Amino acid sequence: MKKQFPAFIAVLAIGFFFLNFTAQNESITLAADGSKFEIPDNVKQIIDNSCFGCHNIESKNDKAKKKLLFDELGELKTHKLVGKLADISDVVGEGEMPPKKAIERFPSIKLSDEDRNILKEWAAKTAEELTSK
Ligand code: HEC
Repeated sequence: MKKQFPAFIAVLAIGFFFLNFTAQNESITLAADGSKFEIPDNVKQIIDNSCFGCHNIESKNDKAKKKLLFDELGELKTHKLVGKLADISDVVGEGEMPPKKAIERFPSIKLSDEDRNILKEWAAKTAEELTSK
């Protein structure tokens, strides 16, 4: 038992390293024109669960990628970012996203009424804040 202990610790340490690594890769930080801001955790969770799968750089959904990449929002100029946030607020408010067909296949990505409001309000508010800067 004593001899195995260091190996056990090493395995744990390596495990934690990879966990952290993947978590960091998925995190979304916005920084446009030096005006840095972050997506709050509760909003990020909603995006990760319902949107990120299609709207990320490595997505196989080319149409979705062309329209919106959550992991590249931070590289946009402020006016473009404001446009994307307004689009997000619109499509979410109108219940266009996630697409109905996708919800039929993956029911867990459906937005609850509460999540829809949180996401919509966040996008609209952030767009407004960036515009008034
Ligand atoms: C199953 C894949 C999928 C998921 C999940 C998904 N989208 Fe989309 N999204 C698409 C596709 C495909 C398009 C392009 C539609 C088109 O070109 O007509 C799109 C387009 C958009 C657009 C651009 C709309 C426009 O007309 O310019 C926005 C904004 C958007 N999605 C936001 C979201 C948000 C926010 C979520 C999560 C609540 C989400 N999407 C979840 C596939 C997805």
